[in-house]
Amino acid sequence: MQGLMSARHEHDVLVIGSGAAGLSAALRLPAHYRIAVISKAELTQGSTFWAQGGMAAVLHTKDTVDSHVEDTLNAGAGLCHRDAVEFTVRESRAAVEWLVDQGVDFDRWHETDHSDFHLTREGGHSRRRIIHAADATGRAISEVLTERALAAENIETFEHRVAVDLVVRDGHCHGAYILNRATGNVELFSARAVVLATGGASKAYLYTSNPDGASGDGIAMAWRAGCRVANLEFNQFHPTCLYHPKAKSFLISEALRGEGGLLRLPDGERFMQRFDERAELAPRDIVARAIDHEMKRLGVDCVYLDISHKPLEFIESHFPTIAARCREFGIDISKEPIPVVPAAHYTCGGVVVDTNGSTDVAGLYAIGETSFTGLHGANRMASNSLLECIVYATASAAHISQHFDAFPPPGDAPNWDESQVTDSDEDVVISHNWDELRRFMWDYVGIVRTNKRLARAQHRIEMLQAEIAEYYSNYKVSNDLLELRNLAMVAQLMIRCAQSRKESRGLHFTLNYPELLDEARDTVLTPDNSPG
Ligand code: FAD
Ligand code: SIN
Repeated sequence: MQGLMSARHEHDVLVIGSGAAGLSAALRLPAHYRIAVISKAELTQGSTFWAQGGMAAVLHTKDTVDSHVEDTLNAGAGLCHRDAVEFTVRESRAAVEWLVDQGVDFDRWHETDHSDFHLTREGGHSRRRIIHAADATGRAISEVLTERALAAENIETFEHRVAVDLVVRDGHCHGAYILNRATGNVELFSARAVVLATGGASKAYLYTSNPDGASGDGIAMAWRAGCRVANLEFNQFHPTCLYHPKAKSFLISEALRGEGGLLRLPDGERFMQRFDERAELAPRDIVARAIDHEMKRLGVDCVYLDISHKPLEFIESHFPTIAARCREFGIDISKEPIPVVPAAHYTCGGVVVDTNGSTDVAGLYAIGETSFTGLHGANRMASNSLLECIVYATASAAHISQHFDAFPPPGDAPNWDESQVTDSDEDVVISHNWDELRRFMWDYVGIVRTNKRLARAQHRIEMLQAEIAEYYSNYKVSNDLLELRNLAMVAQLMIRCAQSRKESRGLHFTLNYPELLDEARDTVLTPDNSPG
């Protein structure tokens, strides 16, 4: 049996994912624990690296926890959990201080004496509240945390390893089966506790701001392991991604609108004030829907985001990355407007956790975009997600260290069994199904939904899942197959969530139920093998 030859690894804690959430958890755990951090590509490959605008935190002398909380609740359209919001916002200053201690160099230009840092503004925030490193905040965070993790003697990092499924025995999560992409073997990683920090699932959509790899692996693995998931109908569409055939949905930060950028139709007319009194700084769901509406009404391929009225020096200092990237495509943002379209950006729902990041399965934690903490409600407010990553990484690390001694040792799980499978002879099945899934999710489960569109999506996902299940049971696993299998699982959960919400709220807008119901309720799905 091939599986018997595979390597086995044992650590105290297994962290799956090396974005802001995963690396912060690893660094926050006690230094005497032996920790494995797994990443399916390079350590810097996730969404964290690409974050632009920054991280929301109460830092301005005139800002208050209450104000940040209220803004988050408003953006979340009645569905945020107040306790999770208050907890996260209360911890925001400490989260910033920890990142600064690690060495993250946030911008400190003084415009006022109200904060040590320059604070920018984004949609939904009633004041300047976003700490940032120019327009490449994620890169600054990712590089510093990666450097720290590589320097830590107790942290062992494993790149190009893909978690396939979790190992749950006697109700406790004891590790995961992990594909080594270099050898093609599936190895066993055992631990007393496992932290899922695998990011979101926006690759379910044809157009997305997310890097490759955002295929909802953690959500799918947790569901298969028996965890509840919630609110997956709320996938956020960022209003402004660069519209250019070669740009691969490069994001144009909301901070550009925060600093005065205006949205215009092709004839130059502004339109956002027709949709919301906050105009360009309305929450994302409203701006994305307004753009979608105008594009469909006029039959145009994009709208325009214009910052050309600001001085060149201001643009180059605040938005060097965006200016440079646009220049590569022949667009001089100091002289002309930027063509933009909405794209799938952030998965507001996910694996249900409490304020410690604990899931329904003992010993299993979920943090960052993979999780559902209740913070974002029906629409995440800009720059609240990096904050959530750091705050819940800290909380989960504290909870693990408090309970570690009571966690049962991993014991002797079986090796991965590949005795019944062969190498795939038709990879085209994977690429075809991958394309089909992302297209119908975009067309039928996108910014505007209807019962009919969701029913079509449901029909197609059932067919795809049957094909994928057959393929999975006959052939050796590969990264593409695993991602497709997970994406199909999460897409199915997204469709189920969307079908069960009989109202329009936040990011979920359906022509069949345009009204808001009086009572705001989460959509919670429970798997058959739930321990509850
Ligand atoms: P990620 O950073 O996505 O990391 C996921 C990790 O999991 C990766 O290391 C990946 O390799 C690993 N992984 C996934 N699946 C597996 C598997 N099966 N096996 C092994 N490893 C796996 N938020 C803000 O707050 N402010 C912003 O300004 C901002 N700007 C953004 C701009 C862009 C372009 C994008 C895409 C997102 C932005 N966001 C922003 C959202 C924010 O960046 C993400 O929500 C956040 O970084 C997610 O962090 P994470 O640690 O949960 O996941
Ligand atoms: C942006 O810079 O517009 C992204 C901010 C976010 O997604 O929170």
